[in-house]
Amino acid sequence: MTTNLDPLQGRHLDALERSYAELLGRHALDGVLIYSGRPRCHFADDQEASFVAYGHFVHWTGQAQLAHSWLLVRPGQAPRLYLHAPEDFWHLAASLPEEAWVARFEVERGRFETPPALPAGCRCAVIGDVDAGQARALGAELNPPALLAALDEGRVRKSAYEVACIGEANRQALAGHAAARRCFLDGGAELDIQLAYLGASRQRESELPYANIVGANAHGGVLHYQHYDRQAPGASRSLLVDAGHRHRGYCADITRSWAGADAAPAFAPLIAGVTGIKDRLAAALAPGIDFVTLQGQMHDELAGLLVDQGIFRGSAEAAVASGLTRAFCPHGLGHLLGVQVHDVAGRVDAAGRPLPPPATDPALRLTRTLAPGMVVTIEPGFYVIPMLLAAHRGRDDVDWGLVERLADHGGIRIEDNLAVTAEGAHNLTPAFPD
Ligand code: GLY
Ligand code: MN
Ligand code: MN
Repeated sequence: MTTNLDPLQGRHLDALERSYAELLGRHALDGVLIYSGRPRCHFADDQEASFVAYGHFVHWTGQAQLAHSWLLVRPGQAPRLYLHAPEDFWHLAASLPEEAWVARFEVERGRFETPPALPAGCRCAVIGDVDAGQARALGAELNPPALLAALDEGRVRKSAYEVACIGEANRQALAGHAAARRCFLDGGAELDIQLAYLGASRQRESELPYANIVGANAHGGVLHYQHYDRQAPGASRSLLVDAGHRHRGYCADITRSWAGADAAPAFAPLIAGVTGIKDRLAAALAPGIDFVTLQGQMHDELAGLLVDQGIFRGSAEAAVASGLTRAFCPHGLGHLLGVQVHDVAGRVDAAGRPLPPPATDPALRLTRTLAPGMVVTIEPGFYVIPMLLAAHRGRDDVDWGLVERLADHGGIRIEDNLAVTAEGAHNLTPAFPD
């Protein structure tokens, strides 16, 4: 079912206007000028890298691809968008979508590689990827850290609109995942699978919230595997697809793992086991739950799986205490999700004080206590990563023969996106079509 997003967006903007007014007052500012950013050219080249707009600009507009544009927010006044849309016979000028927000913004079209002048006497900050000289010329403070921290905090608890956008991004991503799976089972190479994903989810590569990970066989054990083989492997053991979508700037971040026709018998039960861990940890989400504690629960669960599947011949407690589970899964359980795939303020408290991850889990991106409105990923994994297992090779409580048989399958990750509610959590990732 598709939600009508316009009324929700209206309430999202009402709340944003209130929170900016409160926050700017606290920082003794009359306004803030937010730069969307600019694409970079490769060195000594006239070709641009792909571009994503600054998160605080996207928070208001949803426009993740709009470059060189500026948004002036002043309490009590309509937000003013300086839309970079110069007359240009090389490119199609930027245009705005038919969405409710456009009618409540003042829009000025023009050429804005340099910032627009600020209203006379405005005590403004300017934020974003702006030259210090340009900020000085504006008479505005550039990226004041306390303001940025407060604005980041304002993105942590999502409005109903934002949750709905992430839900829609999930639905669109899922069409891609279904096509990717079909292509894999039909014998496609990694590149074919990536193209099937993009085609079915109707997006170009530069619009993805992150580079899709499409890892066949051992490539599934490279956590952020970045290539797409053009040839299908000789044996079809496994596929890991971590692939997303944006809707109105908001990201989906979904991972699924599949067994191929040539998978070892132990592999499919491991996928089912990791899926069960994902489901149980997702069911444990609720306000007041400490995500670092959940990270520990993921390792307890993983230890149980290692024991159940005969990979480890000791107790689950020993698998965790000896560091074995962290060799099989070195990444964090999840992260905040929003207009950035790894959304801001995951490792600070609500007052902006640092909350570093524990020494055992340096890759954990979310160390906060959960609160209603947070959207998080839950993404347990199991991988055979030789460089991490090397430290454990001497031990005789691991079935190394089984580990070797699994090594060519790379790994497993199952990742859903969930919105924390007052009572628990709502899974935004739809069930997979058969
Ligand atoms: N796709 C990156 C991640 O799962 O965090
Ligand atoms: Mn993720
Ligand atoms: Mn992911």
